[in-house]
Amino acid sequence: MLQLPKVIGHRGAAAYAPENTLDSFREARRRGAAWVEIDVKLTADSVPIVMHDSSLKRTTGIDRLAAEIRAADLPKDVPTFEQAIACFQELGLGCNVEIKPCEGRETETARVTVETLRRCWPAQLPPPLLSSFAEGSLAAARQAAPEFDRALLLGEIRDDWQARTEAVGAKGVNTNGQKLTAPRAVEIRKAGFTLSVYTINDGDVARALVAMGVDCVITDAPDVILKALA
Ligand code: G3P
Ligand code: MG
Repeated sequence: MLQLPKVIGHRGAAAYAPENTLDSFREARRRGAAWVEIDVKLTADSVPIVMHDSSLKRTTGIDRLAAEIRAADLPKDVPTFEQAIACFQELGLGCNVEIKPCEGRETETARVTVETLRRCWPAQLPPPLLSSFAEGSLAAARQAAPEFDRALLLGEIRDDWQARTEAVGAKGVNTNGQKLTAPRAVEIRKAGFTLSVYTINDGDVARALVAMGVDCVITDAPDVILKALA
């Protein structure tokens, strides 16, 4: 089983600070999170950055694709993955690194992500957990750096969940908590996989999911969920 905290701050603490920024990671820490989840993708010059969308528009106002901008031209509030890792070291934060490749860059994004982790991840922090909806990225991560644990992200749990999870050598399933049913939660836990849910910001919902067997709740409001689960 993976060693995960009960609560992980989604994109830092996205309810309180601009998502996937150093401020958001600091806010997550201040609000009690021991880990954060971030999204990693590549710039045009293959620098890993912390950014959810393919385009910079929603979060920065700049109408450019991440895959088309060079790292040197990024707005200051978009951290590189290395800057994020340095921030985690300063704060003592663990991390669920979601590999979020732009289309066609599944393998490259995974390789650069694990190369960066090998080079920069601080030994004193808990080992990071890699996750992705992109099975090609998880397969590439496994091949390049099998030492990093993986979880498969599934928008919903279908009958093929176990075969797909095992195909990428993942120890965990991270799924949409709003769609998870109790029988599926039991099935996943019984099969020996760690079960995490996103993105749960309501304390009662979090409690119900944990009662179903969920190990870890990924949330925009870590203080709210920590309090609800205390
Ligand atoms: O990793 C959990 C969650 O972040 C997956 O969905 O779209 O918020 O990256 P998304
Ligand atoms: Mg994510």
